[in-house]
Amino acid sequence: MRISIIGSGYVGLSGGVGLVSKGHDVTLVDIDEEKVEKINSGEPPIYEEGMEKMLNEALENNKLKATTDTEKAIKDTEVTFIAVGTPSDADGKIDLTAVKAASRDVGKSLKENDSYHVISVKSTVVPETVEDEIIPILEKYSNKKAGSDFSVCMTPEFLREGVALDDFLNPDRIVIGELDERSGNKLEEVYKDFDAPIVRTSIKAAEIIKYASNSLLATKITFANEIGNICKKLDVDVYDVMDAVGLDHRINRDFLNAGCGYGGSCFPKDVKALINKSKELGHEPELLKNVDGSNERQKTKIVELAEEKIGKLDGKHVGILGLSFKPGTDDIRESPAINVIQELLQKNCTVHAHDPKAMENMKELFPEVNYYEDPHDVLQNSEVCKILTDWDNYNNLNKNHLSHTKVFEGKRVLDEDVNREGLCW
Ligand code: UGA
Repeated sequence: MRISIIGSGYVGLSGGVGLVSKGHDVTLVDIDEEKVEKINSGEPPIYEEGMEKMLNEALENNKLKATTDTEKAIKDTEVTFIAVGTPSDADGKIDLTAVKAASRDVGKSLKENDSYHVISVKSTVVPETVEDEIIPILEKYSNKKAGSDFSVCMTPEFLREGVALDDFLNPDRIVIGELDERSGNKLEEVYKDFDAPIVRTSIKAAEIIKYASNSLLATKITFANEIGNICKKLDVDVYDVMDAVGLDHRINRDFLNAGCGYGGSCFPKDVKALINKSKELGHEPELLKNVDGSNERQKTKIVELAEEKIGKLDGKHVGILGLSFKPGTDDIRESPAINVIQELLQKNCTVHAHDPKAMENMKELFPEVNYYEDPHDVLQNSEVCKILTDWDNYNNLNKNHLSHTKVFEGKRVLDEDVNREGLCW
């Protein structure tokens, strides 16, 4: 099938390359010309495992192209996914600027389009957005009625950054929220070669399935952190506890790794957006509010722990290993490292830092921090060191260097025989 995707971030690009590997022809659309050029020259604008190879194969076989021309992309295709970003505004409410702009462009392009077309929203949007905001824009600018000349679906994406291609190709489930049966059937055709159950439901249900999934995962992590904080007081290893708890098939072991809190571009924003939507609907979401607040506190708990163990950190040289919100990415959005660095700078500490991929991004935020290519230099220069991202290579740090300074772990990465103090272990 001929498919277009508006937005070539990690969802759009992974989806595009993934759909090509299932035999489809894909046009990626983006307003960023530089991004479009990069994609067309085989250079992925983001780091994703396996992406470069698959992108180049798709380009060589003429199965994928990128463009800034929405109108032509719509004309040349039968299904269009909207996969632009939905960040949160200062109050934690969802910011729909990009989704609305994309919907306007798509609507205008539908106006002159003669054939039946399905628009499917992949961007994470709070329940009621597609029906109350997106469809009216599409109808206004196309001068057509949704459900007749064109139709609309909502197909949320469950990709994790860093392993997005693998997640796209091997999903646990595919959710199709449909306005009508005809559009749902069309979407089912797109996914016919995927080995996963397909859930067909309403648009509103599809919207909340995404938020429910992310909020439950965020809650699992926060629960593990809470038990971890209790275990620390009891001198019990929370990882042993969760290994046993996770053996219950009703619970399962995934996302029960305690540490310095979740970050990234999804969990923090999605939990906040659902809290806001719930309040708007007249329900006070106590559990979600606690998850959000508890995660914020967990991010800097490692500073408290260090002070409890070795005294005030004010004015000291402090090392940070790991700046990205998780390993395998250079993304620092909502990373616990940001909160920790902020607090250390307030205490007039001299901060020394290393990350295999995220130093350039963190430099823009904190130019006053000293960055090193070799993590051993961070250990060498610091009286105290905190590990905040579970990059595998920190497990191979030289033991002599590690013994030089007091090491606190916010994410569990070091071997047990190393002299380190865990946040919850
Ligand atoms: C998350 C979801 O896992 C995806 O299913 C979803 O599609 C995506 O959000 C999205 O909404 O777009 P992502 O943010 O890329 O994906 O990262 P995760 O691998 O889920 O990790 C999120 C955070 O949780 C990281 O900071 C990680 O360190 C933390 N985490 C994860 C823990 O602290 N403990 C765990 O046991 C697992």
